[in-house]
Amino acid sequence: MSEYDPQPVSQLIEQHEARPEMLVQILHAVVARLGYVPEDAIRQLADELNLSRADVHGVVSYYHDFRTEPPGRHVVKICQAEACQAMGSRELVAHAESSLGSDVTLEPVYCLGNCACAPSIMVDGKTIGRVDSKRFDRVLARLGGTA
Ligand code: FES
Repeated sequence: MSEYDPQPVSQLIEQHEARPEMLVQILHAVVARLGYVPEDAIRQLADELNLSRADVHGVVSYYHDFRTEPPGRHVVKICQAEACQAMGSRELVAHAESSLGSDVTLEPVYCLGNCACAPSIMVDGKTIGRVDSKRFDRVLARLGGTA
């Protein structure tokens, strides 16, 4: 297990004046800095913001952006909001789960603002519309992200 360095998270807490009501903003900053929210950071945030660990966990699990595992080399988000579901995004998730390699992190997202081209996905920050399983495979193959 690699050793946890509390310094970066301490800095972010300080930047937000250690205000517990800034927890969501601090968590966004932690993800921007570390790529995810490690369990040790949850403990540290609870201690330094004077919150219970359950409070911090509750916020982390409520927001989909706060992953608790280090991300893969690529992050693929498949839209799960209504327009995309109506166009088959659930099937796309099932396809992705069975075909993605371990270097790809799959996450749900709720509307990418690309509903007219549903189902939509986001691959490493780039939105792609009208994605069926064949197109999905082609996009991922270009990344070298399939197993
Ligand atoms: S519902 Fe999927 S992009 Fe809007």
